Amino acid sequence: MRRRVTKAVFPVAGLGTRFLPATKSIPKEILTLVDRPLIQYAIDEARAAGITEFIFVTSRGKSALEDYFDHAPELEAKLRRSNKTELLEVLRGTNMESGAIAYLRQHQPLGLGHAVWCARRLIGAEPFAVILPDDVIAGDVPCLKQMVDAHSETGGNMVAAMEVPADKVSAYGVLDVAEDMGMLARVRGMVEKPKPEEAPSRLAVIGRYILTPSVLKNLGKKRAGAGGEIQLTDAIADDIAQGHDVFGFRFRGQRFDCGSKAGFLQATLAFGLARNDLHDDLIEFIEDVVAARRAAQ
Ligand code: G1P
Repeated sequence: MRRRVTKAVFPVAGLGTRFLPATKSIPKEILTLVDRPLIQYAIDEARAAGITEFIFVTSRGKSALEDYFDHAPELEAKLRRSNKTELLEVLRGTNMESGAIAYLRQHQPLGLGHAVWCARRLIGAEPFAVILPDDVIAGDVPCLKQMVDAHSETGGNMVAAMEVPADKVSAYGVLDVAEDMGMLARVRGMVEKPKPEEAPSRLAVIGRYILTPSVLKNLGKKRAGAGGEIQLTDAIADDIAQGHDVFGFRFRGQRFDCGSKAGFLQATLAFGLARNDLHDDLIEFIEDVVAARRAAQ
Protein backbone atom coordinates (compact mmCIF):
# COMPACT_ATOMS: atom_id res chain seq x y z
CA MET A 1 0.00 0.00 0.00
CA ARG A 2 1.16 3.52 -0.73
CA ARG A 3 2.16 5.65 2.20
CA ARG A 4 -0.48 8.20 3.12
CA VAL A 5 0.45 11.87 2.83
CA THR A 6 0.25 13.35 6.34
CA LYS A 7 2.76 16.21 6.25
CA ALA A 8 2.41 19.52 4.48
CA VAL A 9 4.89 22.36 4.04
CA PHE A 10 3.61 25.94 3.89
CA PRO A 11 6.27 28.28 2.49
CA VAL A 12 5.34 31.60 4.13
CA ALA A 13 8.67 33.42 4.20
CA GLY A 14 7.91 35.91 1.38
CA LEU A 15 7.91 39.62 2.12
CA GLY A 16 4.61 40.36 0.41
CA THR A 17 5.92 43.57 -1.12
CA ARG A 18 3.01 43.67 -3.60
CA PHE A 19 0.69 44.42 -0.69
CA LEU A 20 2.67 47.23 0.92
CA PRO A 21 1.92 49.16 3.02
CA ALA A 22 -0.49 46.57 4.50
CA THR A 23 2.33 44.04 4.78
CA LYS A 24 4.69 46.47 6.49
CA SER A 25 3.65 45.09 9.88
CA ILE A 26 1.51 42.02 9.15
CA PRO A 27 2.41 38.91 7.15
CA LYS A 28 0.58 38.72 3.82
CA GLU A 29 -0.79 35.32 4.85
CA ILE A 30 -2.83 37.12 7.54
CA LEU A 31 -4.55 39.32 4.94
CA THR A 32 -8.22 38.50 5.11
CA LEU A 33 -10.69 37.09 2.58
CA VAL A 34 -14.08 38.05 4.04
CA ASP A 35 -13.31 37.15 7.66
CA ARG A 36 -10.60 34.52 7.50
CA PRO A 37 -6.92 35.04 6.83
CA LEU A 38 -5.43 33.46 3.71
CA ILE A 39 -3.50 30.96 5.80
CA GLN A 40 -6.72 29.60 7.33
CA TYR A 41 -7.98 28.59 3.88
CA ALA A 42 -4.71 26.73 3.27
CA ILE A 43 -4.84 24.96 6.64
CA ASP A 44 -8.49 23.96 6.18
CA GLU A 45 -7.68 22.53 2.76
CA ALA A 46 -4.78 20.55 4.19
CA ARG A 47 -6.90 19.18 7.03
CA ALA A 48 -9.61 18.11 4.57
CA ALA A 49 -6.94 16.14 2.69
CA GLY A 50 -5.89 14.23 5.82
CA ILE A 51 -2.80 16.28 6.71
CA THR A 52 -1.94 16.04 10.41
CA GLU A 53 1.50 17.70 10.52
CA PHE A 54 1.87 21.28 9.38
CA ILE A 55 5.32 22.71 8.69
CA PHE A 56 5.58 26.48 8.26
CA VAL A 57 8.71 27.89 6.69
CA THR A 58 8.75 31.46 7.92
CA SER A 59 11.11 34.42 8.07
CA ARG A 60 11.62 37.50 10.21
CA GLY A 61 8.48 39.48 10.95
CA LYS A 62 6.08 36.53 10.72
CA SER A 63 5.36 35.98 14.40
CA ALA A 64 1.71 37.03 13.93
CA LEU A 65 1.28 33.69 12.16
CA GLU A 66 2.40 31.76 15.23
CA ASP A 67 0.04 33.77 17.44
CA TYR A 68 -2.83 33.18 15.05
CA PHE A 69 -2.65 29.41 15.52
CA ASP A 70 -2.18 29.62 19.29
CA HIS A 71 -4.98 29.22 21.79
CA ALA A 72 -6.53 32.47 23.00
CA PRO A 73 -7.67 31.59 26.56
CA GLU A 74 -8.87 35.09 27.58
CA LEU A 75 -10.87 35.56 24.39
CA GLU A 76 -12.34 32.06 24.66
CA ALA A 77 -13.32 32.59 28.31
CA LYS A 78 -15.01 35.86 27.42
CA LEU A 79 -17.01 34.29 24.58
CA ARG A 80 -17.98 31.40 26.86
CA ARG A 81 -19.19 33.77 29.57
CA SER A 82 -21.38 35.61 27.09
CA ASN A 83 -22.66 32.35 25.52
CA LYS A 84 -21.26 33.16 22.08
CA THR A 85 -21.01 29.49 21.18
CA GLU A 86 -20.91 30.02 17.41
CA LEU A 87 -17.96 32.40 17.64
CA LEU A 88 -16.29 30.04 20.07
CA GLU A 89 -16.52 27.29 17.45
CA VAL A 90 -15.07 29.59 14.78
CA LEU A 91 -12.19 30.39 17.10
CA ARG A 92 -11.59 26.74 17.91
CA GLY A 93 -11.17 26.05 14.19
CA THR A 94 -7.96 28.07 14.37
CA ASN A 95 -6.47 26.06 17.22
CA MET A 96 -3.91 23.44 16.35
CA GLU A 97 -3.28 20.28 18.29
CA SER A 98 -0.12 20.53 20.41
CA GLY A 99 2.86 19.38 18.40
CA ALA A 100 0.96 19.34 15.09
CA ILE A 101 2.48 22.57 13.84
CA ALA A 102 6.16 23.40 13.46
CA TYR A 103 7.80 26.67 12.50
CA LEU A 104 11.16 26.84 10.76
CA ARG A 105 13.00 29.92 9.66
CA GLN A 106 14.35 30.38 6.17
CA HIS A 107 17.24 32.63 7.06
CA GLN A 108 17.89 33.93 3.56
CA PRO A 109 15.41 34.54 0.72
CA LEU A 110 16.94 32.01 -1.67
CA GLY A 111 13.71 30.93 -3.36
CA LEU A 112 10.74 28.58 -3.05
CA GLY A 113 12.88 25.47 -3.57
CA HIS A 114 15.19 26.51 -0.77
CA ALA A 115 12.23 27.19 1.54
CA VAL A 116 10.92 23.66 0.99
CA TRP A 117 14.42 22.22 1.47
CA CYS A 118 14.59 23.93 4.88
CA ALA A 119 11.87 21.47 6.01
CA ARG A 120 13.80 18.34 4.94
CA ARG A 121 14.54 17.01 8.43
CA LEU A 122 10.94 17.28 9.53
CA ILE A 123 9.74 15.58 6.37
CA GLY A 124 12.14 12.65 6.49
CA ALA A 125 11.61 9.81 4.02
CA GLU A 126 7.95 10.07 3.12
CA PRO A 127 5.82 11.77 0.48
CA PHE A 128 4.70 15.25 1.50
CA ALA A 129 2.45 18.04 0.30
CA VAL A 130 3.37 21.67 -0.38
CA ILE A 131 0.70 24.37 -0.29
CA LEU A 132 1.33 27.92 -1.48
CA PRO A 133 -1.26 29.97 0.44
CA ASP A 134 -1.28 32.70 -2.26
CA ASP A 135 -3.11 30.29 -4.53
CA VAL A 136 -6.61 30.01 -3.11
CA ILE A 137 -8.76 27.36 -4.76
CA ALA A 138 -12.53 27.18 -4.32
CA GLY A 139 -14.22 23.91 -5.18
CA ASP A 140 -16.69 21.30 -3.96
CA VAL A 141 -13.86 18.94 -3.10
CA PRO A 142 -10.79 20.81 -1.81
CA CYS A 143 -7.95 20.68 -4.36
CA LEU A 144 -5.39 18.87 -2.18
CA LYS A 145 -7.97 16.21 -1.29
CA GLN A 146 -8.57 15.61 -5.02
CA MET A 147 -4.81 15.27 -5.47
CA VAL A 148 -4.28 12.94 -2.50
CA ASP A 149 -7.02 10.67 -3.88
CA ALA A 150 -5.47 10.67 -7.36
CA HIS A 151 -2.00 10.19 -5.90
CA SER A 152 -3.08 7.06 -4.05
CA GLU A 153 -3.47 5.53 -7.54
CA THR A 154 -0.46 7.04 -9.31
CA GLY A 155 2.26 7.54 -6.67
CA GLY A 156 5.24 9.61 -7.85
CA ASN A 157 5.15 13.40 -7.84
CA MET A 158 2.04 15.39 -8.60
CA VAL A 159 1.54 19.11 -9.23
CA ALA A 160 -1.75 20.97 -9.55
CA ALA A 161 -2.06 22.33 -13.07
CA MET A 162 -4.27 24.56 -15.16
CA GLU A 163 -4.22 26.09 -18.62
CA VAL A 164 -3.26 29.78 -18.61
CA PRO A 165 -3.27 32.30 -21.49
CA ALA A 166 -0.10 32.23 -23.64
CA ASP A 167 0.93 35.73 -22.52
CA LYS A 168 0.82 34.67 -18.86
CA VAL A 169 3.05 31.58 -18.95
CA SER A 170 6.13 33.51 -17.83
CA ALA A 171 4.59 33.93 -14.35
CA TYR A 172 4.51 30.15 -13.77
CA GLY A 173 6.25 26.82 -13.80
CA VAL A 174 5.13 25.27 -17.11
CA LEU A 175 4.72 21.57 -17.93
CA ASP A 176 6.14 19.73 -20.92
CA VAL A 177 3.49 17.06 -21.39
CA ALA A 178 4.48 13.58 -22.59
CA GLU A 179 1.03 11.99 -22.39
CA ASP A 180 -2.24 13.82 -21.82
CA MET A 181 -4.82 11.66 -20.10
CA GLY A 182 -7.36 14.41 -19.40
CA MET A 183 -7.40 15.06 -15.68
CA LEU A 184 -3.86 13.69 -15.42
CA ALA A 185 -0.95 14.56 -17.68
CA ARG A 186 2.30 12.66 -17.53
CA VAL A 187 5.10 15.19 -17.62
CA ARG A 188 8.51 14.86 -19.27
CA GLY A 189 9.91 18.24 -18.30
CA MET A 190 9.15 21.45 -16.44
CA VAL A 191 10.37 25.01 -16.98
CA GLU A 192 10.17 27.80 -14.42
CA LYS A 193 8.95 31.14 -15.78
CA PRO A 194 9.70 30.55 -19.48
CA LYS A 195 9.45 33.28 -22.10
CA PRO A 196 6.16 32.78 -23.97
CA GLU A 197 8.00 31.67 -27.13
CA GLU A 198 10.00 29.09 -25.18
CA ALA A 199 7.15 27.64 -23.10
CA PRO A 200 6.57 23.93 -23.76
CA SER A 201 2.79 24.33 -23.24
CA ARG A 202 0.19 26.55 -21.57
CA LEU A 203 -0.29 24.06 -18.73
CA ALA A 204 0.93 25.91 -15.65
CA VAL A 205 1.79 24.70 -12.16
CA ILE A 206 -0.55 26.00 -9.44
CA GLY A 207 0.59 26.03 -5.81
CA ARG A 208 -0.28 22.50 -4.68
CA TYR A 209 2.25 19.69 -4.83
CA ILE A 210 2.64 16.12 -3.61
CA LEU A 211 6.32 15.28 -3.71
CA THR A 212 8.65 12.40 -3.01
CA PRO A 213 11.69 12.79 -0.74
CA SER A 214 14.06 12.49 -3.73
CA VAL A 215 12.98 16.03 -4.69
CA LEU A 216 14.47 17.20 -1.38
CA LYS A 217 17.76 15.55 -2.34
CA ASN A 218 17.71 17.41 -5.65
CA LEU A 219 17.01 20.67 -3.82
CA GLY A 220 20.08 19.97 -1.66
CA LYS A 221 22.26 20.57 -4.75
CA LYS A 222 21.22 24.22 -4.40
CA ARG A 223 21.33 24.97 -8.09
CA ALA A 224 20.15 28.53 -8.82
CA GLY A 225 17.53 28.74 -11.57
CA ALA A 226 15.10 31.38 -12.87
CA GLY A 227 15.60 34.76 -11.19
CA GLY A 228 18.79 33.45 -9.52
CA GLU A 229 16.65 31.52 -7.01
CA ILE A 230 16.59 27.85 -6.04
CA GLN A 231 13.45 26.68 -7.79
CA LEU A 232 11.15 23.85 -6.73
CA THR A 233 10.26 23.36 -10.40
CA ASP A 234 13.88 22.52 -11.29
CA ALA A 235 14.17 19.94 -8.49
CA ILE A 236 10.97 18.23 -9.69
CA ALA A 237 12.25 18.31 -13.29
CA ASP A 238 15.49 16.67 -12.08
CA ASP A 239 13.38 13.90 -10.57
CA ILE A 240 11.93 13.14 -14.02
CA ALA A 241 15.45 12.95 -15.43
CA GLN A 242 16.23 10.45 -12.64
CA GLY A 243 13.42 8.20 -13.88
CA HIS A 244 10.63 9.15 -11.47
CA ASP A 245 7.03 9.92 -12.40
CA VAL A 246 5.62 13.44 -12.40
CA PHE A 247 1.96 14.11 -13.11
CA GLY A 248 0.14 17.35 -13.72
CA PHE A 249 -3.32 17.24 -12.15
CA ARG A 250 -6.09 19.36 -13.65
CA PHE A 251 -8.10 20.04 -10.50
CA ARG A 252 -11.79 20.86 -10.41
CA GLY A 253 -12.30 24.29 -8.89
CA GLN A 254 -11.64 27.97 -9.34
CA ARG A 255 -8.20 29.30 -8.55
CA PHE A 256 -7.56 32.83 -7.36
CA ASP A 257 -4.09 34.36 -7.49
CA CYS A 258 -4.15 36.07 -4.11
CA GLY A 259 -0.54 37.12 -4.60
CA SER A 260 -1.92 39.84 -6.88
CA LYS A 261 -4.28 42.66 -5.91
CA ALA A 262 -6.78 41.90 -8.69
CA GLY A 263 -6.84 38.20 -7.78
CA PHE A 264 -7.25 39.02 -4.10
CA LEU A 265 -10.22 41.30 -4.79
CA GLN A 266 -11.82 38.71 -7.07
CA ALA A 267 -11.45 36.08 -4.34
CA THR A 268 -12.96 38.45 -1.78
CA LEU A 269 -15.96 38.94 -4.02
CA ALA A 270 -16.35 35.24 -4.87
CA PHE A 271 -16.09 34.11 -1.24
CA GLY A 272 -18.41 36.92 -0.14
CA LEU A 273 -20.98 35.90 -2.75
CA ALA A 274 -20.79 32.30 -1.55
CA ARG A 275 -21.88 33.39 1.92
CA ASN A 276 -25.62 33.45 2.67
CA ASP A 277 -25.27 36.35 5.08
CA LEU A 278 -23.50 38.56 2.52
CA HIS A 279 -24.77 37.41 -0.86
CA ASP A 280 -27.80 39.70 -1.30
CA ASP A 281 -26.09 42.89 -0.16
CA LEU A 282 -23.14 42.22 -2.41
CA ILE A 283 -25.25 41.41 -5.48
CA GLU A 284 -27.22 44.61 -4.98
CA PHE A 285 -24.00 46.59 -4.80
CA ILE A 286 -22.53 44.94 -7.91
CA GLU A 287 -25.75 45.52 -9.86
CA ASP A 288 -25.71 49.20 -8.88
CA VAL A 289 -22.10 49.57 -9.96
CA VAL A 290 -22.76 47.87 -13.31
CA ALA A 291 -25.91 49.93 -13.91
CA ALA A 292 -24.07 53.18 -13.12
CA ARG A 293 -21.30 52.18 -15.51
CA ARG A 294 -23.76 51.38 -18.31
CA ALA A 295 -25.58 54.68 -17.76
CA ALA A 296 -22.30 56.59 -18.04
CA GLN A 297 -21.38 54.92 -21.36
C1 G1P B 1 5.55 29.72 -7.75
C2 G1P B 1 6.26 28.59 -8.48
C3 G1P B 1 5.69 28.42 -9.88
C4 G1P B 1 4.19 28.22 -9.82
C5 G1P B 1 3.53 29.37 -9.03
C6 G1P B 1 2.05 29.09 -8.81
O1 G1P B 1 5.88 30.94 -8.39
O2 G1P B 1 7.65 28.86 -8.53
O3 G1P B 1 6.29 27.32 -10.52
O4 G1P B 1 3.67 28.16 -11.13
O5 G1P B 1 4.15 29.54 -7.74
O6 G1P B 1 1.42 30.16 -8.18
P1 G1P B 1 5.68 32.39 -7.71
O7 G1P B 1 4.24 32.71 -7.86
O8 G1P B 1 6.09 32.24 -6.28
O9 G1P B 1 6.55 33.32 -8.48
